Amino acid sequence: MSNKLKLDLTDKYYKEALEVIPGAILGIRRPYNFVPGEYPIFFDHAKGGKVTDVDGNEYIDMLCAYGPIIIGHREEEIDNAVIEQMQNKGFCFSLTQPIQNQLAQKMIDLIPSAEMAVFVKTGSDATTTAIRVARANTERTKIVRCGYHGWHDWCVEVKGGIPEKLYEDVYEFHYNDLEELEDIMKKHGDDMAAIIVTPVGHPLAEKVQMPKPGFLEGARALADKYGTILIFDEIRSGFRFDLGGAQKVFGVTHDLSVFGKAMANGYPIGAVVCKEEYMKVIADKVFLSSTFFPNSLEQVAALKTIEILERDNILGAIRTKGEMFGAKLESIAKKCEYDIEISGAPLMPFITFNKDPQKHYKKLRPAFYTELIRRGVFLQPYHHVYIAYRHTDEDLVHAANMVEESLGELKKYL
Ligand SMILES: Cc1ncc(COP(=O)(O)O)c(C=O)c1O
Repeated sequence: MSNKLKLDLTDKYYKEALEVIPGAILGIRRPYNFVPGEYPIFFDHAKGGKVTDVDGNEYIDMLCAYGPIIIGHREEEIDNAVIEQMQNKGFCFSLTQPIQNQLAQKMIDLIPSAEMAVFVKTGSDATTTAIRVARANTERTKIVRCGYHGWHDWCVEVKGGIPEKLYEDVYEFHYNDLEELEDIMKKHGDDMAAIIVTPVGHPLAEKVQMPKPGFLEGARALADKYGTILIFDEIRSGFRFDLGGAQKVFGVTHDLSVFGKAMANGYPIGAVVCKEEYMKVIADKVFLSSTFFPNSLEQVAALKTIEILERDNILGAIRTKGEMFGAKLESIAKKCEYDIEISGAPLMPFITFNKDPQKHYKKLRPAFYTELIRRGVFLQPYHHVYIAYRHTDEDLVHAANMVEESLGELKKYL
């Protein structure tokens, strides 16, 4: 068994944080989402495809900040464009800077469904905007959703602090289960403002699912039948599957889509794009404003990121890297004595342990991720991998070798 990481400073900062921040850290970055005691809790710095924790341990970063890092950490061209804006123009004003128009035009040029765009700061801002736009257009209240769409009242899984009336009009269905969606629409379709779905399925801690033939088309047909707006949540898939989003890859038209994460290589921005006919409500009926929405640094970062993604065919290169990595994982899984599954390759590969009657998977999962973090590969036990352009082929081959080595260590945990 490899040695436990030295995590003294992580422990020190965690204890300090417990005194001043409720729960020490917010949400998904808390230790229980990793392997408590084995994973670092605080990072110090990152560069390219690697990240270093406060104790000086370096890892291949395969979580990529939960998705935004599409090129790499501290990408100079992007950071320099942001610094230039900061130093030469400023970015926080009482009015908007014209760069918003350039970014909107870029989104319209790239994304099939886009005729207009608005910019917010986070993915949750974007999905909530999309829901409000759908409700305002249809003058209906009900929503049917599938997957994680952020932390806002209408969709968050943990319901503490949220009055039931704020989500009682929200129904859930499982990704790829068209029958379940159809049943819900049969009962509530006439009151349904929106169907919101991620083009690719990524249910919490479960394998990643590509759309079954007919699933997205079926959702489209149901939306048409009941006059409901179809929203694609492209927060994870946008600017990763294709510059035009997963919608371009799967070729299903929808009415509205939302973007975030990878569109600015780590700078906080979200976007809602859609047909003009639906977007018009933002001009007169829907209030959408925040002190910081128009700040331009993120818009500069997004434009520069998109310019680099296009110019250097970054997404093509990531796909090639993902294919190589995915193939290695597949061949490791085939040889593996445990029932593991590789899903989501090439763009969102995820290693999951299938459930077994003896419930060994419950021990195997933390044991595997323990072995892996000790070998310098930063993953998350309940989340798929993201691949960044700056992951070198050597990084990915090394990570795959460490996956194999870690699986080989698991016997002693059972
Ligand atoms: C599919 C999807 N939608 C929405 C969100 C919310 O985005 P944010 O965390 O930027 O608010 C996420 C975040 O992980 C997501 O994965």
